[in-house]
Amino acid sequence: MTPDEPSRTALIPARHRAAHQLLDHGSILHDPFAMAILGEDEKDVLRFAEEHPLASLGRLFTAARGRIAEDALSHAVERGIRQIVILGAGLDTFALRNPHGARRIRIHEVDYPATQAWKRRRLAEAGLALPPWLVFVPVDFERDDLREKLVGAGFQQDTPAFFTWLGVVPYLTRGAIGSTLDDMASIPNAEVVFDYMEPSEAFPEEIRGFVTERTEQLEKTDERLASRFEPAGIAAILRSHGFSDIEDIGFQEITSRFGRAVQGLAPGQAALHVVHAKH
Ligand SMILES: C[S@@+](CC[C@H](N)C(=O)[O-])C[C@H]1O[C@@H](n2cnc3c(N)ncnc32)[C@H](O)[C@@H]1O
Repeated sequence: MTPDEPSRTALIPARHRAAHQLLDHGSILHDPFAMAILGEDEKDVLRFAEEHPLASLGRLFTAARGRIAEDALSHAVERGIRQIVILGAGLDTFALRNPHGARRIRIHEVDYPATQAWKRRRLAEAGLALPPWLVFVPVDFERDDLREKLVGAGFQQDTPAFFTWLGVVPYLTRGAIGSTLDDMASIPNAEVVFDYMEPSEAFPEEIRGFVTERTEQLEKTDERLASRFEPAGIAAILRSHGFSDIEDIGFQEITSRFGRAVQGLAPGQAALHVVHAKH
């Protein structure tokens, strides 16, 4: 990340979510604020969605990881969890759509300070009011002590919490991933949904060229893809941090569960996974 500059990669899932509303009627993840928070014209969003046939795979994955995370979050709230932490929130609008407001949940949105400041400007420009359950916590995962920052913002470290961490792990160093997992593991009954990417070689040949091109583009920025994992490797890391109940949802399963909802879905399997883990 570049100091004082918001994440540029945060625009990508935000555009996928907006395109998902326009092209797929939000049938995987209904997000009535996706267009407003993005602040781009429909024609630009559609151009983004249609400029490359493989964009449909990104749209599927982005909508599906959000659905999986929000379903797990709802189950956690039904079980009594009241603290939600959205790590690397970008332009995620869950806090605006929160269906659990009546249950008095508290949502901590954690993000790189410049990204969070940009999001707050986008919310104000779009006329989207801040809900009372939302707490912003600016944190750099590479430098700051996450737990200390959360506690400073009113987070109860002795009370269970549910974390989402979507589209973030690939951009972090292994050190920052490990310390974030340590912080989560120190909270009782911690639960997390996150996604990760396998090494390029795991992508099928017809997709590998596209992945390599995007990786090289990012290499020229300060948001390079820093961490990729094999499924067995990520499971071992989670277990070493005390997470015992681990579900790894691969792209094939995502396609079979959600693929029908994506208009013009390109054939192909991406080496992307969503993980749901409980401590
Ligand atoms: C690809 S975006 C994903 C945003 C959002 N979760 C979504 O799915 O739309 C990556 C997010 O990770 C955040 N991020 C990357 N590196 C970070 C760091 N070192 N500290 C805090 N946040 C970071 C960025 O600010 C950005 O919001």
